[in-house]
Amino acid sequence: MHLENSVALVTGASRGIGAAVSRTLAGHGAAVGVNYLNSQAAAEAVVADIIGTGGRAIAVQGDSRDPDDMNAAVRAVEDALGSIDTLVINAAMSFPTKPFLEIDWADFRAKLTGEIASAFHVCRAVVPGMVERRRGSIVAISSTLSRQPAPGYGAHTTAKSGLDGFVKSLALELAPQGIRVNVVAPGLTETDATAHIPGEVKAMMAEHIPMRRCSVPDDIARVVAFLASDMSDYLTGAYLPASGGHLML
Ligand SMILES: NC(=O)c1ccc[n+]([C@@H]2O[C@H](COP(=O)([O-])OP(=O)(O)OC[C@H]3O[C@@H](n4cnc5c(N)ncnc54)[C@H](OP(=O)(O)O)[C@@H]3O)[C@@H](O)[C@H]2O)c1
Repeated sequence: MHLENSVALVTGASRGIGAAVSRTLAGHGAAVGVNYLNSQAAAEAVVADIIGTGGRAIAVQGDSRDPDDMNAAVRAVEDALGSIDTLVINAAMSFPTKPFLEIDWADFRAKLTGEIASAFHVCRAVVPGMVERRRGSIVAISSTLSRQPAPGYGAHTTAKSGLDGFVKSLALELAPQGIRVNVVAPGLTETDATAHIPGEVKAMMAEHIPMRRCSVPDDIARVVAFLASDMSDYLTGAYLPASGGHLML
């Protein structure tokens, strides 16, 4: 129980990686704010799972790109569960998979601003309290594509590279105040976001992964739990690829 008596907020936690992170952090003793945008029933199911296993959680609606929504979400979590020790920046900003000459600037820009706004606003809402308490761990979910591009994923690579830079600058500024900020970079992970990729393509991709399989959300969630806990208390500004050895730095 590495996270006993702590509180976490996970953005985009109704499905996929965020839902797995919420359940895993709760399994290690954290009370969890499960943020969602549209999927209220799915978020409430995550909360019910956590409560059913003896944990504490609430669902909080809010658009991670919106400062007012994130301020309200943080207030709701702190009122119900207590001060936030762990923030997981996870909400998935969708984007069209198109080569450079086909993607519209509007779509490219929406991905960039969505990704960075989703990190900026929730950090602005959470960090002042962490600074006051001189304690906190922030984990941003990036992607191996931020370091290893693939054709058609330019918007994603550019946005996640920006997120990685944001994390490093925050890590530098906040380290003297006892707050750690790190990146987990998943490779292809089985979620709704990758459900459209045909099974045979995933199997082909798995052959290029040293561990010979694509990840499932729980693989990523355990790395997040490590970064949230004091087990990683000398780690900040780090970029941890969770990719079965596919991305080695
Ligand atoms: N899956 C992969 O292969 C993969 C690989 C590398 C990195 N990642 C990253 O991992 C993270 C999670 O991705 P995923 O695959 O788990 O996605 P997913 O299964 O598609 O789930 C997306 C989650 O994000 C939430 N969300 C979307 N827009 C939001 C907004 N504006 N405000 C709040 N919540 C919002 C959704 O909420 P609703 O359900 O309410 O819409 C949902 O909970 C993302 O940052 C993604 O870029 C994923």
